[in-house]
Amino acid sequence: MPVVRYRNMGLEIEVPVGTSILEASRKVGAKHGSACGGVCACSTCHVYVHQGLELLSEMQDDEDDILDKAFDVKRSSRLGCQAKILKDGFVEVEISEESLRTWEDEHG
Ligand code: FES
Repeated sequence: MPVVRYRNMGLEIEVPVGTSILEASRKVGAKHGSACGGVCACSTCHVYVHQGLELLSEMQDDEDDILDKAFDVKRSSRLGCQAKILKDGFVEVEISEESLRTWEDEHG
């Protein structure tokens, strides 16, 4: 099964193929914001994928449009709710500052 590791959080989880990064975050209890609930209507689930970008579903136009409005976008940027892990392997992600702040706002 694919493994997702969270940089700077000391978290790691095995998930079935087809799981999104946001779903993996929820399973492992990572601080990963998701203001719109995972329907590609905000940018608060923004992550940087440091390893395993090639294992993920291809970015669609709607994700690309939303990422245009996100803060500090890089080549490794994805929306956690849209990026599904489609192949076995190792994925290392870093949750963006914006997403961490959103999670903290949501969880007091
Ligand atoms: S949670 Fe809103 S776009 Fe991913």
